[in-house]
Amino acid sequence: PPVDAMLLLQDFEDWGAKVLSGTAWAYYRSAADSEHTFNENSNSYERYWLRPRILRKVGSGDTKTSFLGIDTESPFFISPAAMAKLGHPLGEVNITRAAGRLGLVQAISANASCGLDEMMEERLPGQPVIYQIYLNKNRQASEALLKKVEKLKPAAVMFTVDVPWQSKRTLDARAKHVVAPVVEDTEPQLKPSKSPLGVSEAIGGYQDPNLSWDDIPFIRKHISVPIIVKGVQTVEDVDLCVKAGVEGVLLSNHGGRSCDYAAAPIDILYEIRCLRPDIFDKIDVLVDGGIRTGADVVKALALGAKAVGIGRPILYANGTHGQEGVERACQILQEEINNTMRNAGATKISEIVPEMCGPAGPWVG
Ligand code: FNR
Repeated sequence: PPVDAMLLLQDFEDWGAKVLSGTAWAYYRSAADSEHTFNENSNSYERYWLRPRILRKVGSGDTKTSFLGIDTESPFFISPAAMAKLGHPLGEVNITRAAGRLGLVQAISANASCGLDEMMEERLPGQPVIYQIYLNKNRQASEALLKKVEKLKPAAVMFTVDVPWQSKRTLDARAKHVVAPVVEDTEPQLKPSKSPLGVSEAIGGYQDPNLSWDDIPFIRKHISVPIIVKGVQTVEDVDLCVKAGVEGVLLSNHGGRSCDYAAAPIDILYEIRCLRPDIFDKIDVLVDGGIRTGADVVKALALGAKAVGIGRPILYANGTHGQEGVERACQILQEEINNTMRNAGATKISEIVPEMCGPAGPWVG
């Protein structure tokens, strides 16, 4: 269907399932083991409902906001996801262009299939991007990468920590792709592979399984922009991130691709809201995983998130309709956020407050 006929983010997934190559679909849609966490990520949003406030003059307003000092037209960003070229020949460049046109923030994957310089050149003047890193077993390689990233001046650096060990990505592993990414340096290239592997298996090999809290000062030594730890999954670790002096945490379980039965990020967010609301004043809390509608976004913001990340829907939209698809997917979400927040009684992001969302059933504060 033409891009205008797409009305929900789900439409891109449904269409993607039909038209993406077997390799792209298996890699993008794939999740760990029996996929409990993958399913729970979206299903968990069904447990939180809105408490719309009335008679609040919602005729004017906007969805602009900022997180970690980065301005954005809308309270969501594009989560870093590898290998956009599996879905479309222009790959991540489509995402950089779409984000630039719409005033949104793209987090660039360490395993992007376009070169970092290429994407940085595609930016409009002043367009902020976040760069995501994995640490390499070979720390000299990581050091060189961090120095390069620091020179390119991203708006923030995201350090992904929720894949300390490679999991079984079931769909992807079953597919045994004949064309698989080969990693030279840290930028994967698509090439025919001698021994067919899952894509995740092919690109993940360089990551260090011995990450520790000492790695945060190692990154800080080279990086002057804000650091976001991506893949935080407990309130205890949010506290340790505050102590380590990073500016942000992204509550995430890697879209259910790493530890099956890891809890849904929205539940962790609610836990922080109930047990430790002081944390929201100490560090910017972001969340991703299973967010598919504007209502999901508004729920997360009400519970305390500064912004949320979107992963797979962007890859699907890029795969089905290229840059136009990415723009359309972002506009759909943007419009849904705007509709939902106004109907819940908020005209700007700062008016989306905790009393506007709670677990299903009567709210007891
Ligand atoms: C990812 N994700 C990811 N995260 C990261 O830090 N670096 C990466 O290279 C990737 N690569 C990647 C590839 C694919 C195909 C997917 C689906 C995901 C995780 C991503 O940033 C994000 O946390 C999840 O995708 C969020 O969940 P949803 O929105 O996909 O449900």
